[in-house]
Amino acid sequence: MVEIASQWVLGKYKHNSRHLINSLEWLDRIAPEAEEHVRLATVTHDMERAFPGPDMPVWSGWEDYDYYVAHSHRSARIVGEWLTAQGAVAELREKVEALIRVHEFGGWPEADLVQAADSLSFLDVNVELFLDYVRKGKFTAEQVRAKFLYSHTRVRIDRIQELTRPMLESANARLDALLTVSV
Ligand SMILES: [Fe+2]
Ligand SMILES: [Fe+2]
Repeated sequence: MVEIASQWVLGKYKHNSRHLINSLEWLDRIAPEAEEHVRLATVTHDMERAFPGPDMPVWSGWEDYDYYVAHSHRSARIVGEWLTAQGAVAELREKVEALIRVHEFGGWPEADLVQAADSLSFLDVNVELFLDYVRKGKFTAEQVRAKFLYSHTRVRIDRIQELTRPMLESANARLDALLTVSV
């Protein structure tokens, strides 16, 4: 099922399937024993962004609890419906939905793993995307710096924060370099 989900992500989420596939790669590095529902949640956690609609929440650019809740719940619903259409049993659907609903926050060991893999992947492959938002004036440097910091500080597993700290420093250095060039 994880392979089918990866193909769904690659086919449907053209904008940033790289982040989701990369999240699964990080999960497999930090928790190679993770069960199927944890791997499924990790590789699909942001899928609502592939399905624009009137109920799609919009990120303000600042840390916004209500946005993250709406985004996580909408993703859980869309992924849950997809799993049912694939013939997944209710127990699997419920486990995956529960993890996606808290993927921005964590909360229990498996949820913390999904959130950690998301954070690692964000700082691994999404930095350039957010630097580009600064270049294009979509978000300010302060907003993007806060987003980088959030991706590190929210991690609840100490050994993973040891990994995200140098990644955060590298992301901030790239942002500083961008600002130096544009001054
Ligand atoms: Fe997310
Ligand atoms: Fe994500």
